[in-house]
Amino acid sequence: MSNALARGVLAVVGRSAPKPPDYAALLSALPVPVVLLDKDNRFRFANHAAEQFLGLSLVQLAQHQLGDIVPLDNPIFLLIGTVRESEATISDHDLTLESPRLHKVGITVQGSPLPEEPGSVVLVLQDASAARALDRQLAFRGAARSVTGMAAILAHEVKNPLSGIRGAAQLLESSVAEQDRELTVLIRDEADRIRALVDRMEIFGEKPIERERVNIHRVLEHVRRLAQSGFAAHIRINEVYDPSLPPVHGNRDQLVQVALNLVKNAAESITGAGMTTGEITLITGFQHGVRLAVPGSDQRLHLPLLVAVRDNGPGIPEDLRANLFDPFVSSKPTGSGLGLALVAKIVADHGGLIEVDSRPGRTEFRLHLPVVHDDAESI
Ligand SMILES: Nc1ncnc2c1ncn2[C@@H]1O[C@H](COP(=O)(O)OP(=O)(O)O)[C@@H](O)[C@H]1O
Ligand SMILES: [Mg+2]
Repeated sequence: MSNALARGVLAVVGRSAPKPPDYAALLSALPVPVVLLDKDNRFRFANHAAEQFLGLSLVQLAQHQLGDIVPLDNPIFLLIGTVRESEATISDHDLTLESPRLHKVGITVQGSPLPEEPGSVVLVLQDASAARALDRQLAFRGAARSVTGMAAILAHEVKNPLSGIRGAAQLLESSVAEQDRELTVLIRDEADRIRALVDRMEIFGEKPIERERVNIHRVLEHVRRLAQSGFAAHIRINEVYDPSLPPVHGNRDQLVQVALNLVKNAAESITGAGMTTGEITLITGFQHGVRLAVPGSDQRLHLPLLVAVRDNGPGIPEDLRANLFDPFVSSKPTGSGLGLALVAKIVADHGGLIEVDSRPGRTEFRLHLPVVHDDAESI
């Protein structure tokens, strides 16, 4: 049986030997950054994903060696040396590749020798933090959905009895003795406070959004003006816009809300730290060919529109990061903790994703949004 099978396989191979593929094209089709270094650590090859990862084109990389991009005391050089010595594949996890032009944390690096080219090393770089960020994002979607459910329950189950309580307190107010009136006023005020909270939660409700073509630069411009004339009057706001950006298929008011919440948080972090050199940067860009893989599924999201808000404040408190987008998570004495939960909900409703990168002196919230398709429905 196995002989027959072996003969069958041989017969197939014998009939038409496959043409060797174009290996550079094949490597460039891979979503994982792959680079080839020669014996002096000069870049011999980098696939598309590696160009994006390192922020340099292949032509630029060809003029550099790894030491120009990553400091020489980085453990990656130890790994490369070991690969050359042992002529074996070696991996290292959770590396930080940090230099003025590169900031990557949580990187898994796999180095392999290339026997045909002595001294050459193939490096496969995997950004585990991107996968983790996406994992978190998917969890945020879940969180946003649970808030949606909660908002619906609150609206139905709390608002009606609440207006009964308030009405009853108002009636009592006119008949109780003077010294008890204070209590009825207290009931009314507290009922109003709960109602205001429920109203705030209602924005999480599951209403279909009305979409139109939205010029995201106008949205950002509007928010910038609001910020500069109010809560961020003392903060410098820079704009780094890609003027060729196509419109977003979305709801303008909601997108204003998203940008406003992010800019407000950025300003509050700067103000909270008492900084006098605070700076917020609004960024837009179009990312050709970037597809985000959804872990655990073969789904690929094509979200080329990038809108980012960056600040030079002290960064997101460590203990908040894991649940940052959950409702009621706040480090501020009077914070509602609803700002980012709402941002996550709106971005998810728009078919997008949100990512955060934060360290002291540089916090960036990045929104990835889909482009408008001609049939406008397929978003
Ligand atoms: N740009 C930022 N820099 C530092 N921390 C931030 C930033 N944006 C958000 N945060 C943190 O995330 C928390 C949650 O933000 P948010 O959901 O808007 O609620 P709130 O602003 O009411 O606290 C904030 O309290 C703050 O600790
Ligand atoms: Mg906020």
